[in-house]
Amino acid sequence: MFMAYCKRKRGESVSRNIALIPAAGVGERFGAGKPKQYVEINGKTVLQHALDIFSGHPEIDCIAVVLAPDDGFFQTASDKTVLLHCGGGSRAETVRNGVNALVAQGLAADTDNILVHDAARCCLPAEALSRLLDEAADQACGGILAVPVADTLKRAQGKQIGETVPRSGLWQAQTPQLFQTALLQRALSVEDLSAVTDEASAVEALGIKPLLVRGDSRNLKLTLPQDEYIVRLLLADKNK
Ligand code: CTP
Ligand code: MG
Repeated sequence: MFMAYCKRKRGESVSRNIALIPAAGVGERFGAGKPKQYVEINGKTVLQHALDIFSGHPEIDCIAVVLAPDDGFFQTASDKTVLLHCGGGSRAETVRNGVNALVAQGLAADTDNILVHDAARCCLPAEALSRLLDEAADQACGGILAVPVADTLKRAQGKQIGETVPRSGLWQAQTPQLFQTALLQRALSVEDLSAVTDEASAVEALGIKPLLVRGDSRNLKLTLPQDEYIVRLLLADKNK
């Protein structure tokens, strides 16, 4: 059923917005004994919270979730959702495999927008997602959510401070990161993905300068056990 929803209609020419959610990590730093995207917070898994943000947004046409090939946790998907069992050994590989699978299955055309979003960023405010779509969906260079760095930055020299790094002009990258399919596929087609920590860095390596769109400090990534407390509060607040 979901295939019918996501499949491009014959003659359809308007670009669509496809969310691609890499959810094939093991969550080593979080250390829950299972992948952190399957930890339940306020009655739903972290992944389900992330999926609900996109399925509830009127401008998102389709959601693709990239799972580990041996994922035994995923349960239910909405009819806007496609499951791709092709997660890789790194986040970048998972995204590359997901994009290639969408193209191979005819689910993403060259000019469709793909919004890559970490399953672990389950508190993304809908307004921030709307802002990214408003500012970057029509831009050939694509764009990402990011926030200006708020803290003073220190470069370490062993256990000591080597220097203070001026923070002016520095932004912290978040997700979603939005790019047209053809650009993203080309950027991720490099042999060595080890330097690719986010999609933007792969696109930058092609000499393209994606837009910085103001994100939100609530769009944090569940990474360490201590992040769960804040995520729990943010998700509880959202449900009010
Ligand atoms: N991810 C993925 N495939 C991988 C590694 C990560 O799809 N091989 C996904 C994660 O599931 C997560 C997102 O990429 O939604 C961000 O990665 P991260 O926070 O690093 O998650 P993990 O890799 O699972 O955590 P850790 O690095 O602590 O093991
Ligand atoms: Mg990781």
